[in-house]
Amino acid sequence: MSSSSSSRSQVFDLIFGLLELHGFHTNEAQASIFGVTPTTINNWKTGKVKTLNRGKLEEVIARIHFLSKRRGVDLAGEPSLCPIVIEDGAGPEDLERDLREKWDSVYLGHKFLYYHPAGAMAWMKLMATGYGSDLLSKGFAAAFAEALEGSGKRQAGALASLLRWTEGKSCGVDLISLGPGDGTKEARAIAQLITHSGPGSRLIDWLTYTPVDVSIPLLRLASEKARNDIRDRVSEERWPHFLVRPACSDFEDGGIGFAGHLSENPEDRRLVLFLGGTFGNLKSEAAFIERTLSRLLRRGDLLWLEVGVRQARIEDDGLWALAEGGLGDAQETVRQSLVEGPHRRFRASVGSLIDTRMRIIPRDGGATCAVPGSYNFVHDVDINAMGQRCSVLYSRRYDVDALRQWLVGFGYETLFDHTVSDARGRPRTVHLLLRRTRD
Ligand SMILES: C[S@@+](CC[C@H](N)C(=O)[O-])C[C@H]1O[C@@H](n2cnc3c(N)ncnc32)[C@H](O)[C@@H]1O
Repeated sequence: MSSSSSSRSQVFDLIFGLLELHGFHTNEAQASIFGVTPTTINNWKTGKVKTLNRGKLEEVIARIHFLSKRRGVDLAGEPSLCPIVIEDGAGPEDLERDLREKWDSVYLGHKFLYYHPAGAMAWMKLMATGYGSDLLSKGFAAAFAEALEGSGKRQAGALASLLRWTEGKSCGVDLISLGPGDGTKEARAIAQLITHSGPGSRLIDWLTYTPVDVSIPLLRLASEKARNDIRDRVSEERWPHFLVRPACSDFEDGGIGFAGHLSENPEDRRLVLFLGGTFGNLKSEAAFIERTLSRLLRRGDLLWLEVGVRQARIEDDGLWALAEGGLGDAQETVRQSLVEGPHRRFRASVGSLIDTRMRIIPRDGGATCAVPGSYNFVHDVDINAMGQRCSVLYSRRYDVDALRQWLVGFGYETLFDHTVSDARGRPRTVHLLLRRTRD
């Protein structure tokens, strides 16, 4: 502390600290906020003026309050919900432009399926058309409860111990979901975490939920679902402990700006949820771990991964029949409208009549199956009459032991696993709770 600041009161220290935080550094800038002269600011700083009269202090407090409001928290008019931040290059018009530039390339990528409202609707429809979303979301809730509460099994309570609850400590939790879709699973996780945050247990000091998606319609659904849950489950005086901060951000190719808003305190924990097989949709799993996860997770932070399981007989996979020639059912029709959507819309906009036809091509190994033992159902569409095709969506299934081993090579150890099986007892997805073991 400088000699001039040591002679002034701590109230002035606090006032100038807050102004610095809001970016007002010079005497002139600070004077403009409080409606005083730079000389007055200088007198407050040097200790020439020791206290403010009650009226002036109230004015100063009101201005500082205004500076926070001005940044937009709770603009949505409801507790605990921040406005959606659209990061550079991740907005709908950016993706539309990318699509126009890349429409005739051999690979497009899954992010283009959902950003348009029609794509988001097709996804919701697919969820409602025999996709098993209820089974999968109940399966996630059961896995999350087991990780928190334990069930008397070997791995019981793994998540609780990582959040330091088993030591009777509390911490702040940054819960990030990459590609939440409609956010049903995340809302279930938040509901369970809320149960441990109350005055009785108080194991969560604060929780910030950051849903990350390029689809604004889905991001809104996911954010509002979580916000409603917080509003309904938490007493009003505890609302400020919970914050939903949606980011329209591209987690594969974008700048990951939302990472700058996460807590840096080593006592707080970051938990990244990557659910619903989206890991298997990536262009490159290795690039995602090295580029994105390395910026989000510190040593000791947590990754919750849900991946599709490779069947012992690949013919037992739901996508096999579609790859073999199709079923002609409602689920196939909706999948087609999701996968063909981007090219269809592009063609309609340039007046081209050429049909797009989804085809699913099974790939066992090869360039798109870098994780040992993985299997890829590549979703292709026609892009011109000469038979040129574009891969729009990868849908991979994993040999779970081989995946775990592969993740060790990137510094991620598995602490908990839970398999979700279908009505016939076949493993459908597996949940892995992983900890980053190195910087
Ligand atoms: C398969 S869906 C949703 C899965 C959902 N987590 C579940 O468990 O049902 C994938 C989600 O990821 C989003 N997405 C895909 N690629 C993305 C990217 N590069 N950046 C941000 N969001 C992306 C999509 O918009 C979509 O909401």
